[in-house]
Amino acid sequence: MNAVFEKDLQVKGYIDQVIDPTVDITEEIKRLKKEKNAVILAHYYQESNIQDVADYIGDSLGLSQQAAKTDADVIVFAGVHFMAETAKILSPEKKVLLPDLKAGCSLSDSCPPHLFAKFKEKYPDHLVITYVNCTAELKALSDIVCTSTNAVQIVNSLPKDQKIIFGPDKNLGKYIIKQTGKDMVLWNGACMVHEIFSRERITKLREEYPNAKFIAHPECEEHILNQADYIGSTSGLLKYTIEDEADTYIVATESGILYQMEKASPSKRFIPAPPDNACSCNDCPYMKLNTLEKLYNCMYYDLPEVSLDEELIRQARKPIERMLEISAKYGL
Ligand code: 13P
Ligand code: SF4
Repeated sequence: MNAVFEKDLQVKGYIDQVIDPTVDITEEIKRLKKEKNAVILAHYYQESNIQDVADYIGDSLGLSQQAAKTDADVIVFAGVHFMAETAKILSPEKKVLLPDLKAGCSLSDSCPPHLFAKFKEKYPDHLVITYVNCTAELKALSDIVCTSTNAVQIVNSLPKDQKIIFGPDKNLGKYIIKQTGKDMVLWNGACMVHEIFSRERITKLREEYPNAKFIAHPECEEHILNQADYIGSTSGLLKYTIEDEADTYIVATESGILYQMEKASPSKRFIPAPPDNACSCNDCPYMKLNTLEKLYNCMYYDLPEVSLDEELIRQARKPIERMLEISAKYGL
């Protein structure tokens, strides 16, 4: 690797080359896609200009299904590191690029694999289900991976008396327990974006917009979910706003999803749920590290690339494949 790039990647996590200002970045990205037989997979939390150049926009489950079946040579992952890792695990022969290697995840960080391994030792007769928002090392310690789209179905697919450890998200874990009636041992992790919503400010907003529906992602805390008219993954929330008849929605998740909601239902109003501080944005600082410029540079230079040890891929792949099999059975 070019020494300048190596330093850039170590320090910044992305290629910091100045782009010719006369270049139409969007058109160049489209050209590079064809030239390199690349596919751009983007999560709903990405900037709107990135969503606009993507070949597929989706939630964590949809993105992993796409990564498993694409025939492209290069997967450009516009999302965070654990998502790009999942794509690499499912398509190890492909080059997987991530515009900024520092696009991590607070939820994933809340569960260091070496500590989880010790936690797991305390419950030798338990099955381990992990939310996809975790490192490849944590997936390798798991029996089944899940996303917020399929978590309830996966837990319900297991025998009634099956003992379960669930991690890393305690909020999603509590939601699953409520939905399935099954007790689970929970790891104490959470997402910084979904834990900032203010119950008081949401209540006030609902008084201001009495016809609005309040919809929330299951990574939110229980006292927020208790107020919700609908709870679902990003794709579930989007689908609900398309099919439901209300004209206003207060949305408790990362604000990037509002772009597709507004596009799909231009006559409806979408209000980001207010956080418990003076800031009115619910942006994920990791998701928003990716920019169109970094995406362009990463496609142009084929860097930064996500690479994983072969044995780790082999171990982490099994629980992800189990998730995909169970999801397919439920038509998800
Ligand atoms: P989903 O898109 O699967 O609902 O996940 C949300 C999320 O927090 C991704 O980091
Ligand atoms: Fe992680 Fe939360 Fe950002 Fe999703 S929104 S990537 S869970 S920090």
